[in-house]
Amino acid sequence: MTKKPARKPASAKPARKAAKAPAEAATETARLELDGRRLDLPVLTGTQGERVIHVGNLRRELGVSAYDPALASTAVCRSGITYVDGANGRLLLRGYPIEDLAQHATFVEVAYLLVHGDLPTLEQRSRFSDLLNQHSMLHENMRNFFGNYPEGAHPMAVLSAMVVSLSSFYPEIKLDTDREEIDITVTRLLSKLRTIAAFSYKKSIGEPFIDPSHRYSYCENFLNMMFQSPVSRYAASAEDVAILNKLLILHADHEQNASTTAVRMVGSTGANLYACISAGVCALWGPLHGGANQAVIEMLERIVREKIPVPEVLRRAKDKTDGFRLMGFGHRIYKTYDPRARIAKAICSQLVRKGRITGPLGEIALELEEAALADPWFQERHLYPNVDFYTGLIYRALGFPKEMFTVLFALGRLPGWIAHWQEMRADPSQRIMRPGQYYVGPSRLPYVPIAKRR
Ligand code: CMC
Repeated sequence: MTKKPARKPASAKPARKAAKAPAEAATETARLELDGRRLDLPVLTGTQGERVIHVGNLRRELGVSAYDPALASTAVCRSGITYVDGANGRLLLRGYPIEDLAQHATFVEVAYLLVHGDLPTLEQRSRFSDLLNQHSMLHENMRNFFGNYPEGAHPMAVLSAMVVSLSSFYPEIKLDTDREEIDITVTRLLSKLRTIAAFSYKKSIGEPFIDPSHRYSYCENFLNMMFQSPVSRYAASAEDVAILNKLLILHADHEQNASTTAVRMVGSTGANLYACISAGVCALWGPLHGGANQAVIEMLERIVREKIPVPEVLRRAKDKTDGFRLMGFGHRIYKTYDPRARIAKAICSQLVRKGRITGPLGEIALELEEAALADPWFQERHLYPNVDFYTGLIYRALGFPKEMFTVLFALGRLPGWIAHWQEMRADPSQRIMRPGQYYVGPSRLPYVPIAKRR
């Protein structure tokens, strides 16, 4: 059989718009050869020494695409926000180690850090907190929306819809907007998301909304809106406020995860910030991403309810014919202990010591972790607990129902999403994100009239 000469792909024609040159000078080049043609690809080095091969000109120069399912080997942007060192379990937000931020900062300071690029001074923090206060209320007409959701609606469904609805009440920010306007939009989102989250919970349990109050700090306000009621006294303890601050900080950003990529993807089309954040909320909801914190508790509850022995749980997690996965374990980037999980585990232990986490769920979690870490199958695959393994247990101890866990993750991740959206919009190399594909469908088929189809 004679091999037909390969047709020149249509995409090999010079593209109308040339790919942008890399922003940094290449430190070295990687060589690619195809069909006797050679392409020198620039190799760029990030500030932490990680190397990336710039393949942006591949299609234009050679008429081929890079095939990378699940984007496992693809860097989709250059970013100066967050660094994750998956081999050594290190996480830096704007250069600051997560351990230092969780120990010393408040969530509001970390939000400021992500959005503005550095930690606030006393004056800047006070101005930012004032804005958070001023923008915490929801438009009266928005309150009516909650009444139309059915009982038992998942708060993530309500959250995503409410966030995109904000775009019809508040103007979007323009690229050339001044700092003050950007601050207002950012604080409006940060503050209102918290109010929406608490209102959606109150709606789900049929209780009246509790309005935000200028007397409280960000996290205290949220706890108050969640747990105060006209018929019971509630005052958030300093311990709960501190724990919530820490957990929201752990969630604050994690570079190009699925939800952040969704925010950037939607943002690259020029859609408004509220639409982009709503896309992020939807992407986060999945059990492989932020929804894992709810899925972990449900898994633990099932193990206890059905009295499934831990070795049997691991056997099922290893069985490829069984759809079961050990929730809260594994990570695309971390091939060692997730530093966020380490901090969450310490908080969990603190609550166990104080008798605030009791009963079998915490015990099973510890037993599962120990057994999985000692199991060669998990060791070979570098599977460790991730941030979601322990956070659900903590949120539960604070009084949150499991349906709210992913909402809390979203609240924490919001400043990260906003920071990425801003960075993307300010990047001169940014174009609409439009990945390609590797087509394996049928070749041209003759159209068959409906009467003749079988
Ligand atoms: N239980 C059992 N096996 C697992 C698990 C798990 N939780 N995670 C990964 N594996 C296995 C997987 O079957 C594969 O085995 P093999 O090489 O034999 O085919 C290997 O480990 C590599 O896994 P992968 O699916 O290629 O890894 P990924 O990078 O595509 O997926 C993950 C990462 C987080 C989606 C996955 O580890 C997982 O499903 N974990 C459970 C859900 C979870 O906890 N998600 C929260 C992630 S952290 C918070 C966040 O960022 O949202």
